[in-house]
Amino acid sequence: MDFGIKVGTPEKQRGACAVIGIFESKKQADSAKILDKITQGYIKNILALGDMDGKANTSLLLHNVPDTQFKRILLVGLGKEQEFKEKTFLATLNTVLSALQKTAVADATVFLSDFPVKGRSNEWKVTQTIIAATSNSYRFDQLKSKPDSVPSNLRKMVLCINDRAELAACEVAMQQGLAIAQGMSLAKDLGNLAPNICTPTYLAKQAKDLAKTHKMKASVLEEKDMEKLGMGSLLAVASGSEQPAKLIVLEYYGSGKKEHPIVLVGKGVTFDTGGISLKPGADMDEMKFDMSGAGSVLGTLYAIAEMKLPINVVGIIPATENMPSGKAAKPGDVVTSMSGQTIEILNTDAEGRLILCDALTYAERYNPKAVIDIATLTGACVIALGNFTTGLMSNDDALAAELLSAGEQAGDRAWQLPLWDEYQDLLRSNFADIANIGGRAAGTITAACFLSRFTKEYRWAHLDIAGTAWKSGKEKGSTGRPVPLLVQFLIAQAKTAN
Ligand code: BES
Ligand code: MN
Ligand code: ZN
Repeated sequence: MDFGIKVGTPEKQRGACAVIGIFESKKQADSAKILDKITQGYIKNILALGDMDGKANTSLLLHNVPDTQFKRILLVGLGKEQEFKEKTFLATLNTVLSALQKTAVADATVFLSDFPVKGRSNEWKVTQTIIAATSNSYRFDQLKSKPDSVPSNLRKMVLCINDRAELAACEVAMQQGLAIAQGMSLAKDLGNLAPNICTPTYLAKQAKDLAKTHKMKASVLEEKDMEKLGMGSLLAVASGSEQPAKLIVLEYYGSGKKEHPIVLVGKGVTFDTGGISLKPGADMDEMKFDMSGAGSVLGTLYAIAEMKLPINVVGIIPATENMPSGKAAKPGDVVTSMSGQTIEILNTDAEGRLILCDALTYAERYNPKAVIDIATLTGACVIALGNFTTGLMSNDDALAAELLSAGEQAGDRAWQLPLWDEYQDLLRSNFADIANIGGRAAGTITAACFLSRFTKEYRWAHLDIAGTAWKSGKEKGSTGRPVPLLVQFLIAQAKTAN
């Protein structure tokens, strides 16, 4: 889909369809007032008929409205003006998009001043509209012999603002929205792909392709390289699988080689059976999404490279399957991590932390400004926060605050959980330096505590995306989260650094 920004009001524009907001009150949104003025109350009359009452999530399509240069006008209900918030705005966008999909409209013009979201600028509305429209038209049918969805006719959305002074900023917001949307689509594709296709080798190939098209440097460490580095923990997880593990490194230098990078570490378990601590069969197919952290790292690097963001970012992806076999790690095994710390593997299903810890130690060589890991790490996080909110834990409250605010801005929110010392004791082992599980209580926090033993050298934050990376049920599929949060965070970082 194409997008454009224009300055103007409905009486001066032309096109296939104008999208006009209608409040559930006497006082109307901007475009309705303007149109009523030039048409002697055409919209007012329609509202008086009662076919459109401005209730949220309703719409009415009008044809041949006199004295306008639009072939159609789509009235969309906004609900009560005082209650018009972010959530209503996003829901309204979806109402608009599904109404347009039922028509032959190829280009639609949306008047952003009709949608006064409290505390949000037109720039924010531009970015969110682009993300919503791209998500709405996202289909994953590359593995079907025939696509089963009828493609929509909508090809272009023009976003109209009425203040020329905002044009430049809105154009930047449009580029950011496009980049985020494309990064999300990449993350979604990788997540949705079948696990017999999206293997560690496939992820490595994607990183190499991305490096070629977007001026990045990709390097892939093989198992023998990891052995040399002493990554006994990552290799223990890989040992049960026929698919070779890869440690994928993708470097983006948008700000010269001297500046220390921000490192993103993404969990890349391309299928998690649980290993010898085998998971139950129900819904196990969803464990193909266990590489969503890795997908979000690739999606984020794609987005910042598209934007040519002046910042240095390194993506590190430990990629492996977690499979049971005669060669697989067993409960009770003690392995030595790259950091030198020994780990007692009490449950082979707590594999994410076992691969992340070696990747986090590897990250030290970049002298990073900060390290953020992204992982579908614990089922406990889904119990704690559900499917709306990403879990955030950090050894640096300032970094945590920056991530929380980026999530707030991007509509991709996280919530911080404590990493207090009391929890560390739950990881005590009788036989090694640390156990890989801490029991049922506070499972999300003890998983992060485990990681914190390997992140002492830098500012670090951990995003547990177990609940937010994909949807189950009828809508099963990857969400592309937390690409919006990460990109927004990096945009803010690039601003403060320059
Ligand atoms: N990939 C899973 C976490 C997960 C489970 C994400 C369900 C989303 C939905 C992870 O590797 C895992 O299995 N974690 C265990 C840890 C436990 C053994 C301490 C879990 O959450 O059950
Ligand atoms: Mn697991
Ligand atoms: Zn897992």
